[in-house]
Amino acid sequence: MPMLAITHYPDAILRRKSAPIHHISPAINALVDDMIKTMYASPKTIGLAAPQVGHSVQLIVIDVSAREKKHGLLVLINPALVWGKDEKILREGCLSLPDYTGNVTRYNHVLVRGLDRGGAPFQIETEGIEAICLQHEIDHINGMMFIDRVSSLTTDVFRRKRYGKV
Ligand code: NI
Repeated sequence: MPMLAITHYPDAILRRKSAPIHHISPAINALVDDMIKTMYASPKTIGLAAPQVGHSVQLIVIDVSAREKKHGLLVLINPALVWGKDEKILREGCLSLPDYTGNVTRYNHVLVRGLDRGGAPFQIETEGIEAICLQHEIDHINGMMFIDRVSSLTTDVFRRKRYGKV
């Protein structure tokens, strides 16, 4: 299981709407495993979307356990936000934009639907960091990044030191 190279902004793949997955092929299964490994190997990283590792398909992995006790590892295929409520502003970062963080307004409580890694219909209702992380990763598969959601690029985006790895 190789570690995957992270695609950085402004690579065009990060701005493209990803293709839905219709068949959980061995290649998709291998990609899921490699994305999980890559996520866990990257400090402070609680989610990863396939376009961030060079694959324009609708696949995300998240695990917010390091920040909040929630559902642990989640693999979602073709995920979509069904509804959200209770807006909240939180500082976000992204492996694909490692030198910046931003204050982003998102729903604190969401329902997301998709497929699990076996291809079965799956839905999750959750709150807090996990809800925010799901929205961040779903944005990636729709070609959006957190800088698209800040109120102001001059007052709500902040420079920071690079991640230690990746
Ligand atoms: Ni990101």
